[in-house]
Amino acid sequence: MIIAIDGPAAAGKGTLAQNLAQHFNYAFLDTGRLYRAVGYAVLQQNQDPSNEEIATKAAKAFDPKTINSILKNPALRNETTGEAASKVAVIPGVRAALLDLQRNFAEHPFFEDGTPAKGSVLDGRDIGTVVCPNADIKFFVTASAEVRADRRFKELKDAGKPANYDEILAGIKARDERDSNRATAPLKAADDAKILDTSNMNAIQVFQTALDMIAVDHA
Ligand code: CDP
Repeated sequence: MIIAIDGPAAAGKGTLAQNLAQHFNYAFLDTGRLYRAVGYAVLQQNQDPSNEEIATKAAKAFDPKTINSILKNPALRNETTGEAASKVAVIPGVRAALLDLQRNFAEHPFFEDGTPAKGSVLDGRDIGTVVCPNADIKFFVTASAEVRADRRFKELKDAGKPANYDEILAGIKARDERDSNRATAPLKAADDAKILDTSNMNAIQVFQTALDMIAVDHA
């Protein structure tokens, strides 16, 4: 069983993915973290994330066995890394290097301790379209750029970090633009994805709506 969740930055994909994974007892992979880890690795080398050769090399250097510990690095969450991620994500060599890893996880999912799971939930930008076109359930989770910026703003404030709404909104729009207009695997809903506009919903409502949609389809 594979559940694919795609959508733009800060739309609530990750929260929904984790809730569904927990509910069904499936393993979860936040594929954005893979791109973030590549962006981070390039920044650590003091290099430009748009440099194709260096970014592709960093993506190829991933060892699937150590992936869990790499993806836990808290530095992956910050906005600088997010921006670097969306730059390396444009590079076809980077996407190709991460594809097998994501497909392997979808088909042979495992929990953090290595135990196999009977299903997987993957969230990203191209899961339903490119990584797992045959996923059993596909969601495209979205919300207006203003609502998404507001959520990020509150998240940062709550964490006691400096936050500027206008800068966050501009960053989100720039990332949307880059993600939607790239040639390889752009951000878009799969034809058979269920669209979930979360602009006026909280996380619990989004989860409940998703469960209702699954129940209707798999009754
Ligand atoms: O959490 P947030 O939505 O801000 O971003 P993320 O999911 O961590 O993804 C960071 C960046 O990685 C995105 O802006 C995309 O450019 C890229 N990405 C991608 O191209 N394909 C994926 N399957 C996941 C992320």
